[in-house]
Amino acid sequence: MRDSFDILLLPGDGIGPEVVGAARRVMDAAADHFGVELSYEERKVGAAAIQDEGEPVSEETLERARSSDSVLLGAVGHPDFDRGTVRPEAGLLRLRKHLGAFANLRPVAAIPSLLSASTLKEEVLRGVDILIVRELTGGAYFGDKEEGEELASDLSVYTREEVERVARVAFEAAEGRNGRVTSVDKANVMATSRLWRSVVSDVAGEYPNVALDHVLVDAAAMFLIRDPGRFDVIVTENLFGDILSDEAAMLPGSMGLLPSASLGEPGTPGIYEPVHGSAPDIAGTGKANPYATVLSAAMMFRHSLGRPDVAGAIEQGVSVALEAHYLTPDLGGKKTTEEVTEAVRKWVAAGEGVI
Ligand code: NAD
Ligand code: IPM
Ligand code: MN
Repeated sequence: MRDSFDILLLPGDGIGPEVVGAARRVMDAAADHFGVELSYEERKVGAAAIQDEGEPVSEETLERARSSDSVLLGAVGHPDFDRGTVRPEAGLLRLRKHLGAFANLRPVAAIPSLLSASTLKEEVLRGVDILIVRELTGGAYFGDKEEGEELASDLSVYTREEVERVARVAFEAAEGRNGRVTSVDKANVMATSRLWRSVVSDVAGEYPNVALDHVLVDAAAMFLIRDPGRFDVIVTENLFGDILSDEAAMLPGSMGLLPSASLGEPGTPGIYEPVHGSAPDIAGTGKANPYATVLSAAMMFRHSLGRPDVAGAIEQGVSVALEAHYLTPDLGGKKTTEEVTEAVRKWVAAGEGVI
């Protein structure tokens, strides 16, 4: 097992610096406990980078990302830049493309001690454990664009190879879980979806132990609320995955609980980022929920750094803090970002249940 790692921190905008700061404190405690050495470099991305460096992500930052072991990113986006020609969000998209991070893993599980934090009924939520595998570097996000006063277009393109590689990630994940993949598309209308469906069906042939079904995205949105327990692994294209994962955030009860890992080919650094955005409405108030970013750091130890022991300790620290009702306002609690972070940090540092 390796025990020293080089991490690039990209806090970004809004609550990004608050939640990345929280994750860093927990990572440091875990690193100390396990005798791991973490060296960090921090750089700008998003609106912060437009302000300081004139572009939403600089070439230098992209190169540093590529040479790092892993990237931890907060969030990008700022209302002041919503009408500008260069958007902060473009920095995140360039980074994902630059690292070839085509598979975005977004685990969503109901948390037993938090069933009442969701707007959904407890009996619908009990036992829910879903992995959304979102294709991240193709589709309408990256096709040619035209933007005028009278006409605009976003071209959505998928190649067989792009669908195959993300489908394999989904099937492999399902083999280690409950053996079911649901592929979500809009094959009744879109050509890209018909290719998607046919390629995912072909790939399924390589995984005889995994059951595959296909669900149209509009129906999938409904089933996620009506009967989320029917899903194990969901694999879907970039835009559908973006929308369905925000919807799925209401299964555990808040955007502030969903972590993610954005992964490319083996050996390339992953990007670890919460699913939520920069939340400008609560930035600077101490209300930001740090769990999603802390759990993203845990995913980094598991998926990119080969340290499931460290990941497990962080995840356990989060579970214990949640059970002890260290909850920010989005979860109906009164704790601050700082109080929640300190609870997890203390538990991880001690390696046992004292918070
Ligand atoms: P958002 O996810 O930032 O916020 C949606 C709602 O959820 C807000 O009410 C917010 O307060 C709440 N919320 C989100 N994260 C939270 C947290 N950790 N703790 C407590 N509450 C939280 O989405 P939005 O408001 O639609 O977008 C704001 C900006 O963020 C936009 O510029 C958007 O482009 C950007 N964005 C960035 C990312 C990213 O960087 N990965 C993801 C989504 C949105
Ligand atoms: C996400 C975000 C991004 C996306 C934006 C900020 C570009 O919403 O990571 O889910 O749409 O991928
Ligand atoms: Mn999103």
